[in-house]
Amino acid sequence: MEKENIYILGIESSCDDTSAAILCNDRILSNVVADQKIHAEYGGVVPELASRAHQQNIVPVVHQAIEKAGIKKEELSAIAFTRGPGLMGSLLVGTSFAKSLAYGLDIPLIDINHMQAHILAHFIDEKDHNKPPFPFLAMTISGGHTQIVKVTSHFEMEVLGETIDDAVGEAYDKSGKVLGLGYPAGPEIDRRAQLGNPKAYQFTKPKVDGLNFSFSGLKTNILYFVQREVKANPNFIKENINDICASIQYTIIGILIAKLKLAVKQTGISHIAIGGGVSANSGIRKALKDAEGKFGWTSYIPKFEYTTDNAAMIAIVGYLKYLEKDFSDFDVMATARLKL
Ligand code: KG4
Ligand code: ZN
Repeated sequence: MEKENIYILGIESSCDDTSAAILCNDRILSNVVADQKIHAEYGGVVPELASRAHQQNIVPVVHQAIEKAGIKKEELSAIAFTRGPGLMGSLLVGTSFAKSLAYGLDIPLIDINHMQAHILAHFIDEKDHNKPPFPFLAMTISGGHTQIVKVTSHFEMEVLGETIDDAVGEAYDKSGKVLGLGYPAGPEIDRRAQLGNPKAYQFTKPKVDGLNFSFSGLKTNILYFVQREVKANPNFIKENINDICASIQYTIIGILIAKLKLAVKQTGISHIAIGGGVSANSGIRKALKDAEGKFGWTSYIPKFEYTTDNAAMIAIVGYLKYLEKDFSDFDVMATARLKL
């Protein structure tokens, strides 16, 4: 007998992207993301504005996802939504919407941990993408998170280390602000880094024990360095922007790879998967490819659209939980500081 198709609607609204996706089993039928340009004017995400924009976007985004998938909403098997972690006002929009739609359609509701979803995005069925074998190490790097996680099964995850202050994406964005680049600055620093000399300037690497990270000291170090140089030469940034970006990127990638090396040494696991917005970075991608030959690691790098916040990653966890009949009560609450 042929297996029944499971259709999951995933909804993601934890930060500043409103997204809805439909999966048929582990295959994507649609993945719609509406990002919020408004925050660029403020140089960072403004929670109140994010929440309001989610309210405007959620109905058209879900509608589009269903339409693009070519199914009817009555065919949905379940609705999966991001419960946390994230901004409370943003999470509430997705949570309430998911609850009312699941209630109206009389289908199961499945709450999802956003960090687990960044990791399990690797289990979306994709041509040319190998799923990592268990156990593997996952490094989630974005504007909101920096973690190294030991993944023993789809649902057994242990955080081995995480940032004690800023996330790595914040280090990019805040350094970019010092240099007068737009928000978010990560992609621009990455682009310029490829044109500059990574060893032009040296920044101090944070000294944090074990597998934890710290990026706030680096940010201050870059700020003081730039202020000092600009005092001596007002055109310093303009004349050296590519070298500055290359040196920042070199320092950050060095920190990430050093922690991964330690994690491999401590666990004996050398399958490494990355996720989160910063995994789009050309430096980390290259470093992980190089590590295959240099250290014998196997690296798993997701397709770009599954690295930044998106609902396909929420829907794949929804599908895996659906198979386990791991459904949520309708009184489940959005949880801003949800742990992995
Ligand atoms: O996953 P994401 O879209 O949202 C969060 O959950 O934060 O990640 C956004 C972050 C921003 O800090 C942005 O600057 C960074 O990812 N980012 C990059 C690159 N592309 C995006 N950082 C470095 N290099 C890139 N190519
Ligand atoms: Zn995220």
